[in-house]
Amino acid sequence: MFSNGSKISQCVVFVLALSTLVAGSPSITLYEVKSSSYCGTNFHLPGKDYTVLKYNVSAPDDEFRISSFNSPYLITLPEKEFLCYLTDVDSGGCGHYKAHGHDCLCDQISSDEQHLTYNRTADYDTSNVTVVMKWAGRGKAGSIFSDPYQFKQVLTGDMTFVKFSSTFKRSKGIMAAGEDSTELQFDVYGGEIYNISNHENGPQFYYITKDGVHHKGCMSFDRHTGACINHTTSNDQCFCQKQSRCVYRITYKISARVKLGGATVYLLWPGQVNLRSENFILPQVRGTLSIHEIK
Ligand SMILES: *[C@@H]1O[C@H](CO)[C@@H](O)[C@H](O)[C@H]1NC(C)=O
Ligand SMILES: *[C@@H]1O[C@H](CO)[C@@H](O)[C@H](O)[C@H]1NC(C)=O
Ligand SMILES: *[C@@H]1O[C@H](CO)[C@@H](O)[C@H](O)[C@H]1NC(C)=O
Ligand SMILES: *[C@@H]1O[C@H](CO)[C@@H](O)[C@H](O)[C@H]1NC(C)=O
Ligand SMILES: *[C@@H]1O[C@H](CO)[C@@H](O)[C@H](O)[C@H]1NC(C)=O
Repeated sequence: MFSNGSKISQCVVFVLALSTLVAGSPSITLYEVKSSSYCGTNFHLPGKDYTVLKYNVSAPDDEFRISSFNSPYLITLPEKEFLCYLTDVDSGGCGHYKAHGHDCLCDQISSDEQHLTYNRTADYDTSNVTVVMKWAGRGKAGSIFSDPYQFKQVLTGDMTFVKFSSTFKRSKGIMAAGEDSTELQFDVYGGEIYNISNHENGPQFYYITKDGVHHKGCMSFDRHTGACINHTTSNDQCFCQKQSRCVYRITYKISARVKLGGATVYLLWPGQVNLRSENFILPQVRGTLSIHEIK
């Protein structure tokens, strides 16, 4: 008897579930994602890249109608910052809301289907942020959600190590002053490169001699114009070569001097990027002249 009753109630639940489906459940579908790639597909550049998300809000069930006071909305997770409402809060109709960096456009497809197109320019607030569209409807289905979407990481700039190598023309492991040299090379990329003018905010090589004194090495971008430049200082050479729209390869070629033996070299990118490379230690240097003088 008991097992029979249980079977009947399972059957009733099944029929109820089926009738909800037949009547049509409300749904929110994220049906299209477009993400620009100004500097490649790995990250977004603030002010240059954008993301377009398209949602289909379907409400075939009369009990789950969109009204002015229960408009579906787009929010961030987990902070729950409101990005936009699907419909106009006052009129309840499809609206178009535009603010700096945001564009929320509602399209009325049919009486029970509306689409939201959200176009968002990348900025520091979008980096790695997850958004979801929520409809806190009052119908029997309760609140419904779209699939979440995570915006791309937003980087102002980045640096990747390419090489650190020294020549040893006379003897292994010890550089000869005036004859050998060391090259430290990085790829740098990102938005700050385009806005270095009038600032000392470009990537800059430094070295610290063993007496603890800090010295400026190479600056690979012109301090005033921001242009990628090659130049030679009294002892060293600085190279800058454009690799692609966003990537520059910068090289600091340091000629061997006795006082630079064991010195620390690094690349610093100040300003908004605020990155510092690891330390690179220069090999020991033997003075080539002094060998003759001793003999
Ligand atoms: C929107 O979603 C509803 C419900 O899933 C579906 O019937 C309809 O075809 C969708 N519209 C578009 C344009 O994909
Ligand atoms: C999104 O916004 C960007 C930047 O304003 C614009 O270039 C792009 O055409 C827009 N895309 C859509 C689908 O609205
Ligand atoms: C953002 O996401 C990227 C890629 O998933 C990850 O490498 C990075 O660490 C994340 N950044 C933060 C601040 O969570
Ligand atoms: C460039 O720098 C200036 C001065 O600091 C600043 O006002 C401007 O917003 C920056 N532009 C971009 C695209 O970052
Ligand atoms: C710097 O010199 C290298 C090698 O000589 C060259 O390939 C590169 O184009 C130069 N860069 C500039 C900005 O002139």
